[in-house]
Amino acid sequence: MSKKYRVAVLGAGDMANHHVQGWQLAGHEVVSVTDVDLERANTLAEKAGVKQVYSDFNQSIIQPDVDIVSIALPLINHGPAAILAANHGKHVFCEKPLASSLEEVERMQAAVEEAGVKFGLGFQRNFAHGVELTRDWVKKGLFGSPMVFNSDLLQEVRPKITMHDKNGNQGPVVDTCCHFFLMWQTVFGSKPKKVYARGGILGKDRQEIAHFEELAIDTAIITIEFESGDIGTMTISWGLAKHTKMRGRADRLIGPKGGAEGYFNTWGTDSGAEIHLFIGDQEETVPLENRVLHQVEFEAFIEALENDKPVPYGFEQGKEMLKLSYAVLESIETGKVIYV
Ligand SMILES: NC(=O)c1ccc[n+]([C@@H]2O[C@H](COP(=O)([O-])OP(=O)(O)OC[C@H]3O[C@@H](n4cnc5c(N)ncnc54)[C@H](O)[C@@H]3O)[C@@H](O)[C@H]2O)c1
Repeated sequence: MSKKYRVAVLGAGDMANHHVQGWQLAGHEVVSVTDVDLERANTLAEKAGVKQVYSDFNQSIIQPDVDIVSIALPLINHGPAAILAANHGKHVFCEKPLASSLEEVERMQAAVEEAGVKFGLGFQRNFAHGVELTRDWVKKGLFGSPMVFNSDLLQEVRPKITMHDKNGNQGPVVDTCCHFFLMWQTVFGSKPKKVYARGGILGKDRQEIAHFEELAIDTAIITIEFESGDIGTMTISWGLAKHTKMRGRADRLIGPKGGAEGYFNTWGTDSGAEIHLFIGDQEETVPLENRVLHQVEFEAFIEALENDKPVPYGFEQGKEMLKLSYAVLESIETGKVIYV
């Protein structure tokens, strides 16, 4: 068992709830919760037995009893919170996407390197059992080559409206596609080469997001070719009508020798307990382990910290995914194939 680290969780929203639970299950102490919405912070702190509550992260980060700052705030806060934490010698764990811009990434990385602290990024979905299994099957050549990986995500206009702000969370291409791009990259064991995408804003007439100066693209069809010759492709939308019951389809991976179908990087309460494997004329149902992915990702972060190893996911992957998301948006804007 490692040392018991003292963690300040920033935010008290959906992801912060997972952070608090994940850190506690991994055997560490959450010393504070911070949220501008103090009622939310108090509710989470009470539920999880956390003693200290703050409304201003400039206060909670600098406390001497904090070893790790765990950022689960909207995207515009990732950079400022991470830089302040590093400047005060705290290790940083931050939700994806990494930052609001590639320039901000440089500032965050400089602060972390200058302070000599560890930085980890929240790609917990890549720790799912389904990603591990499909990656191993591909390594063994089970499906042959080349392969096509098809993912899908359909949701209605998000109640968290900042997700639709081009200058806020920047829409699903930046906010959510990164999980799928990273999964494809992991499973193929190859880096992306070029991108072609088309897209638009299905929710452009919706009143609840009309006040934003610029709306983010909420719907896209994306194709990424990898150096291996494999192809990842997805349909993503956050623009569906209110209360629509339509949902994305399962991931499908196909190659000349067979394929697999299931929700490979699912987490939380999503359905996805098995993968269907098709090889030749054979069909097999492979059960998936139910993992608490935040616990797993925090344990991996601490292992890297204690053994001075590279983190599983950090600046390198965060930057790659951000560049890829921006290449998708550039392709949508210009109609061109973008080389990455
Ligand atoms: N890893 C994943 O699978 C995953 C899933 C969803 C969201 N996220 C990411 O997690 C982050 C948080 O998303 P969420 O879904 O928890 O959002 P949320 O809206 O549920 O929670 C964010 C919280 O931050 C608080 N907040 C906003 N500005 C603040 C400030 N300046 N200081 C203190 N508190 C502030 C809000 O009051 C809110 O309670 C985002 O970056 C998002 O992209 C990751």
